[in-house]
Amino acid sequence: MANEEVVVDWEPLPAPQQERNSNNGQLLLKFFASVLLVGFCYHVVFADFIPWKPNSTKAACTLFLGEWIPDNSGPGYTNETCNFIEPYQNCMRNGRPDTGYLYWRWKPKNCDLRPFDADKFLNAMRNKSWAFIGDSIFRNHIQSLICLLSKIEEPLEIYHDSNFKTRTWYYSSYNFTLAVIWAPFLVHYDIFGNNGALSKTNIRLHLDVLDTKWTMEYHKYDYIVISGGQWFYKSAIMWENNEVIGCHNCPEGNVKELGVAEPYRKVLRLALQFITANDHKPFVIFRTWTPDHFEYGEWYNGGVCNRTQPYKEGEFNGDPTDHSMRNVEIEEFEKAAEIGVKKGMKMQLLDTYHLSLLRPDGHPGPYRTFPPIDADKAKNVQNDCLHWCLPGPIDTWNELLMKMVINEDGDHRGCIVLKDEAHLLHS
Ligand SMILES: *[C@@H]1O[C@H](CO)[C@@H](O)[C@H](O)[C@H]1NC(C)=O
Ligand SMILES: *[C@@H]1O[C@H](CO)[C@@H](O)[C@H](O)[C@H]1NC(C)=O
Ligand SMILES: *[C@@H]1O[C@H](CO)[C@@H](O)[C@H](O)[C@H]1NC(C)=O
Ligand SMILES: *[C@@H]1O[C@H](CO)[C@@H](O)[C@H](O)[C@H]1NC(C)=O
Ligand SMILES: *[C@@H]1O[C@H](CO)[C@@H](O)[C@H](O)[C@H]1NC(C)=O
Repeated sequence: MANEEVVVDWEPLPAPQQERNSNNGQLLLKFFASVLLVGFCYHVVFADFIPWKPNSTKAACTLFLGEWIPDNSGPGYTNETCNFIEPYQNCMRNGRPDTGYLYWRWKPKNCDLRPFDADKFLNAMRNKSWAFIGDSIFRNHIQSLICLLSKIEEPLEIYHDSNFKTRTWYYSSYNFTLAVIWAPFLVHYDIFGNNGALSKTNIRLHLDVLDTKWTMEYHKYDYIVISGGQWFYKSAIMWENNEVIGCHNCPEGNVKELGVAEPYRKVLRLALQFITANDHKPFVIFRTWTPDHFEYGEWYNGGVCNRTQPYKEGEFNGDPTDHSMRNVEIEEFEKAAEIGVKKGMKMQLLDTYHLSLLRPDGHPGPYRTFPPIDADKAKNVQNDCLHWCLPGPIDTWNELLMKMVINEDGDHRGCIVLKDEAHLLHS
């Protein structure tokens, strides 16, 4: 069980670095373009000295831009009060010695993010259901939500698949259902042989066939939170119309290298088309890319994340390939949301990328297991610098969700519309 869980947990980690950077020139360009756009966005939104302002006494709330500020109040739960923390993210119990990472609060520019209100959330969710669709980052996210809710009610697990990747919980006092659905590529994939993250081309990815794990369940839920992620960095052979169209990190020279951004674009387009064309119209939230914080190496060769404080704005810009993946997400989501909103759907972006990028201190690092490993002695202990400690910065994602879904007060779109600031300020 323990070993299996390790494998399960480590599957979503990024493939070797060279796999990401198949097209460095173009990616760097995109990276700088995105830095410029973000910069402009900051300028417009942050600047009180800007000559034109939105016609309101209050400047637009930029939910996803802001800063981490020290906060004494601490997390809404601990390893003692929440029984739902997966061992690999239970940093407190696993002996992480520093606790400073628990005492920060996200302060969006021009508004405040209130602490998560479990009572209010559950009352608003009577007779409702949520599904989180994607990879293990969503398992991390949903465990944070369950922990935040646990002071009011603990749910009953009513379903899990054979390896606990897809799970459903039920809050009987509220008739509220919460599910995490395992669909790391959103499209259909086959894995051959050893599915260790380092083995090559054992993944066959069908870019034109959605994963029925989520499409068959889609109609059951009132709220859908969905995303792709680091699985797209893995080596894979890509298929379309039952033919090989290329690959990523190809084993032999005779198959076309497709990189990671364009396959991801195809997948998102297909998934979002399914969503906007569907008769069922849930509240759809797309969560943006998740950054990792490996330093001094990658996850498979001694990379660590031993910082104990957030980055300051501008101190760390993140991985250029991550930026291009996030740009793909924003472009495809904006296009789909335009269609969806015309059809009366609620579709929003949960843009956690930037605020998470500033939190290198929030990962388990070597504190993945109990009893704790002496990190100084065991230099080669595998670190997790992708998932988040619970409690930890990922709790903020639920505060953001709460604000977006329940405290629908004013413009909470944040500075997500990088290409269209006027739209942001006038909406
Ligand atoms: C600004 O808003 C106020 C009230 O919200 C409205 O009366 C006024 O016409 C608006 N001005 C412009 C230029 O839109
Ligand atoms: C919670 O973590 C503390 C250390 O921060 C540890 O002493 C305690 O045993 C943990 N409790 C549980 C239930 O794991
Ligand atoms: C629970 O909610 C569903 C709608 O999501 C409703 O059909 C059902 O009747 C509710 N059950 C109870 C016991 O309230
Ligand atoms: C939940 O569903 C039950 C059964 O259908 C209904 O009696 C109740 O009013 C509903 N509650 C809310 C808040 O919609
Ligand atoms: C973090 O780890 C690196 C590599 O092992 C080491 O050189 C550095 O001193 C460490 N930093 C801290 C703050 O412990």
